[in-house]
Amino acid sequence: WPYYLAALAFGYLLGTIPFGLILTKLGGHGDIREIGSGNIGTTNVLRTGSKKLAAATLLGDALKGTVAVLIAARFGPDTALIAGFGAFLGHLFPVWLKFKGGKGVATYLGILLGLYWPMFLIAALTWVGMAVVFRYSSLSALTASAVTPIILYFGFSQFQLGEMFLVLTLLLWAKHHENIGRLLKGQESKIGKKSRPAE
Ligand code: G3P
Repeated sequence: WPYYLAALAFGYLLGTIPFGLILTKLGGHGDIREIGSGNIGTTNVLRTGSKKLAAATLLGDALKGTVAVLIAARFGPDTALIAGFGAFLGHLFPVWLKFKGGKGVATYLGILLGLYWPMFLIAALTWVGMAVVFRYSSLSALTASAVTPIILYFGFSQFQLGEMFLVLTLLLWAKHHENIGRLLKGQESKIGKKSRPAE
């Protein structure tokens, strides 16, 4: 179990790196937490108007999950899972930001890429398909993360992964409770729209 604990801590620390916050600050946009939804993720970085910074945030937030998993995988498959879980917790609840982190979409996908890439492809395509049709980032993430544990479990018979991603999905949905409220009221902002004030 010392390996497991180390993997959890290692994943957590990597997960806490807030790429959106750092990159927008470096890019001269001030504090991303005072823009749009106030979230530190890719969708909100896009509201600054910078597609480059948004793309870099997406890559950074995703790859920290992938890297955590791949490094920990050298010590066995269970260790990889735990590091992935740690990275997700780190992104959602970073100690450096008073535990107020992101909503987890990019990191979720990055962890999935490291642990089981066929499901990553399906989840990413689901996100893109939903985004093309409906133009809501949150709805795309909610849908992609809803199908992931179901397909892992019943489609790929990846029972342990399915259970783990069910937990990640529940956390991701909980983090999206404001988005869910706005979607239900028809008030969610569409991808790339810059106007919504910080709440
Ligand atoms: O990944 C976050 C996205 O699903 C919603 O972001 O900024 O619109 O709350 P945001």
